[in-house]
This record gives sequence, C-alpha cells and structure tokens, in this order.
Amino acid sequence: MNSRKLGSADFEVSEITFGAWAIGGWMWGGADKNDAIDAINASYENGIDTIDTAPAYGFGRSEEIVGEAIAGRRDKFKILTKFGLSWYSEKGIFHFDTQDEKGNPAKMYKYAGKERVIQECEDSLKRLRTDYIDLYQIHWPDPTTPIQETFEAAEQLIKQGKVRAVGVCNYNKEQMIEANKTVNVVTNQIPYSMLLRDIEKEVMPWCKENGKGLIPYSPLQRGLLTGKITEGYVFNEGDHRPGTPHFKKGNIAKTNEFLSKIKPIAQAKGCSLAQLVINWTLAQPAISTILVGARDAKQARENAKAVEFCLNKEEVQVINGHLAELKLDL
Ligand SMILES: NC(=O)c1ccc[n+]([C@@H]2O[C@H](COP(=O)([O-])OP(=O)(O)OC[C@H]3O[C@@H](n4cnc5c(N)ncnc54)[C@H](OP(=O)(O)O)[C@@H]3O)[C@@H](O)[C@H]2O)c1
Repeated sequence: MNSRKLGSADFEVSEITFGAWAIGGWMWGGADKNDAIDAINASYENGIDTIDTAPAYGFGRSEEIVGEAIAGRRDKFKILTKFGLSWYSEKGIFHFDTQDEKGNPAKMYKYAGKERVIQECEDSLKRLRTDYIDLYQIHWPDPTTPIQETFEAAEQLIKQGKVRAVGVCNYNKEQMIEANKTVNVVTNQIPYSMLLRDIEKEVMPWCKENGKGLIPYSPLQRGLLTGKITEGYVFNEGDHRPGTPHFKKGNIAKTNEFLSKIKPIAQAKGCSLAQLVINWTLAQPAISTILVGARDAKQARENAKAVEFCLNKEEVQVINGHLAELKLDL
C-alpha cells in the first residue's frame, strides 16, 4: 500500500483509510465489536495505517472501539476524527432526529463554538486512549458560529500538541477559503463516488490548484457499488440506507446494470467490483486517501487489495463511458 501526503499537512497517510462509521453500529443496524476489531487488524496487516472515526458514530462507540484496537501501538496509526456534530446539547443548528444505542430518541446538532471544540477534543482523546489526534476535522459546517472562531480553537489545539493538522468535512469552496484564512486547512472530507461526482465542478479543481487534499467518503456508495445489493435486499433494522436516494428501487437496478457492464474489466483484472470501484476512485485528482468502511476482516482485506493493480487508459475510458450513460433519479 502506498502512502500519500495528507493535502497541505507535513505527513503521509495510507492511500486507503479505514472508515469506522459502520463499526459504531449507529445508523447501520448494529455492529459486532469483535468483527470491528478484526476488520481494523486485517486492514493494518494489509497496509492500511489510517483510521477515520467521529464522536457521532455510535455516540462515542466507534472512537472507543478504535481506541481499544490500537491500544499499545498508537504510534503505528494515523487517527482522523471529528468535532462539531453532537447530541448532548441544543446549541448550534438542528441536523436530524435519530435514536441512541438504547433506542431512545436523540437529536444531532451542528455546533462548533470555541468551548465545544476544546471540550470535544478532550473527550475524543479519552475515548481513543491517546494524547494526540493526527487530523481533526469539523464534521459539518455550523452556520451559527463564525468560521474564524471555530478554527482559532482548532489552531489552539495544534499549539498545545493535541492535534497535528486540521481539516474540514462537507465544506464548499467558499467555506474552505474562509477557514483557511485562520488555519492551514489541509483536507476536505466529502462524499465522492462513481455515483456522486458533484465535487468535480468546484471543490476538486480548487483543492488541486491550492495543494489541499480530498478525502472522499462512501466511495462504495455505502455498499451499493459492490454489486451485492439487489432489489428486495434485507437490511437490519435501523440501517439508514433503504431511506437514501441511491437505494431507491430504480437506482439499485440502474446501478447494477452499470456494474454488469464494467464486470468484464474486473474479470480481466482478476479483481472484485468493489476493488475496481475503489481503484478507479483513488486515481481521481487531488485525492490524499479514500475512506472505505468495512464491517469485518473479509471486507477489510478485499478493500485493501484494491491497490494491487493499475487500470489502463482504455479501461478507464470504458468505465467513464458507461458512467456518462448512467442517469440515476436522486
Ligand atoms: N464526514 C462525513 O460526513 C462522513 C459521512 C459518511 C461517511 N464518512 C466516513 O467515510 C467512511 C466510508 O464511508 P461509508 O462507510 O459511508 O461507505 P462505503 O465505504 O461506501 O461503504 C461501506 C459499507 O459497504 C459494505 N462493504 C464494504 N466493503 C465491502 C466489500 N468488500 N464487500 C461487500 N460489502 C462491503 C459494508 O456494509 P454492509 O456489509 O453492511 O453492506 C460497509 O460498512 C465512513 O466509515 C466514515 O469514516 C464520513
């Protein structure tokens, strides 16, 4: 597995990062802790030394599992986590209604006031069993707090040695420019997959021109691009995916039709569809590392091996041609 420079930071990360949302269970219909730790171990054994998590993923559970998995070998990993999406006060702006791990109603708020950023960092350090975070990212824009205030707090954490670098998530170009006036914003973590390419218009070119790194999330479109999701697929209770646009009936069928057209390329390469999709995504501009979620060691191993081949120009053209014909109802 190669490493890549993390945008405008002064250190590198593995080109695939283990995405730790689903292992928190929340919004993914639950998760098994032993499977989760096995997935992190299998990722590491296959060259993935970088893990992305967040307090919101299972109300702290994902961070705790990551902390347990890396205990005693913290120095071998790069840990990316987040702040500014929380469930324990009504400050900031309401994001969405949800349920906590006990099934009680809960609300998520986007809030990144200075005191909260500092407090959240302390909480994450404890859950992660560490004294520093490699990349600290705002989870969602908070329109109620001046961007300058949020990133002055983040800069303070860098000066204290608690954070090595600062990034954003889900920011548009203008928000990145604004935040970058206060702190060196090294990356933007943002949705990007073969099926969701909005960032190619503005954010991707801006990052490329300005030496900032993109960290695409949900590159497998939450499992859809593995080809395993067919109409009538049964999800666990509490899994958010059936309610999302890409998982609408017609979109599943159209996506699978597209996948059947690119399958011959996967067969020629001796790889799975998931590996082909990950490999294509990694080759797009300005990308520092891509976040791929995995529930267990088998998925983790398969995903890590997606870097073991190169697509040639003709293969990329064929894939892009089929993508251009694919029109989803989003
Ligand atoms: N900043 C943000 O706002 C934000 C938002 C979303 C995600 N993220 C980050 O990005 C990471 C990755 O995105 P994601 O987890 O949403 O989506 P993803 O990586 O596109 O899909 C991950 C899911 O697909 C299935 N899967 C993965 N590998 C597979 C394989 N080889 N074969 C079959 N199924 C496989 C697993 O779920 P099943 O087995 O249950 O199908 C897995 O949980 C997250 O974990 C999180 O760290 C950040």
